[in-house]
Amino acid sequence: MKISKEIVSGFKQWFARYIYQFIDGYPDLKENIGLKADHCKKVSEEMVGLAQYLQLNEQEVLLAETIGLFHDVGRFKQYVKFQTFSDDKSQNHAELAIEVFNENNLLKDLSEEEIDIIHQSILNHNKAEMKYDQNERVNFFSQMIRDADKLDIWRLITEYYMVKGQDAEKENKTLELELPDNDRISEEVYRSVMNRQVVLKESMQTLNDFKLLQIGWVFDLNFNYSVKRLYEKKYLYKIFDALPDNEKMNQINSVVDEYFRISLQDTSV
Ligand SMILES: [Fe+2]
Repeated sequence: MKISKEIVSGFKQWFARYIYQFIDGYPDLKENIGLKADHCKKVSEEMVGLAQYLQLNEQEVLLAETIGLFHDVGRFKQYVKFQTFSDDKSQNHAELAIEVFNENNLLKDLSEEEIDIIHQSILNHNKAEMKYDQNERVNFFSQMIRDADKLDIWRLITEYYMVKGQDAEKENKTLELELPDNDRISEEVYRSVMNRQVVLKESMQTLNDFKLLQIGWVFDLNFNYSVKRLYEKKYLYKIFDALPDNEKMNQINSVVDEYFRISLQDTSV
């Protein structure tokens, strides 16, 4: 392993300069650029928290921190070019991250294995189902970033749903992936959650579907740490608060609640 504190502090300085270029070059888009930059830093912190909980060694903690910081580094090019965070309407932002690494020769001081772990775990972070690699370390860091990312998206969107609930003018269509905000829940989305399966992006048609996709991430957590943190932060309840109150939602609520209770009990064993 070649990673060191000095290298990671260089990454953080590079990241700050990189973001500044976008904010400076696209002042009209700075709100969402800022939200994503903040998300990258917070996912990086989640990664450190999780790595410490898992008692990883110092270099592994640094690698986790780096993956967190860079997992969404492709979002900025995506957003200024296409003005959307929907990969389907633009480009896969995980693949864009690899492009950014190459263009900037960013990982040059790391070992080949470290570079491979960073690339593969970032490519895995936004897949509906992760792709398992022969290298167990790739799988492990992929599982970590998938949890850390979910935890911070829950923070971001529950804050957003709350603000929007109080003031409709705070609506941010980009964060909603431009989905229509009506009362509908798609049948396929409803069935996935009721079957305790993650919701596929392709089946989303409304903002409620997107909220249910975010709720369904509970079925795809890899570490006890994440289940506990989800509980402490009450993210699930906050998303349910932003959904309509009807019979279908009550059914979903009880399925999710039961699943979550059992997961929580398992973490205390
Ligand atoms: Fe992402």
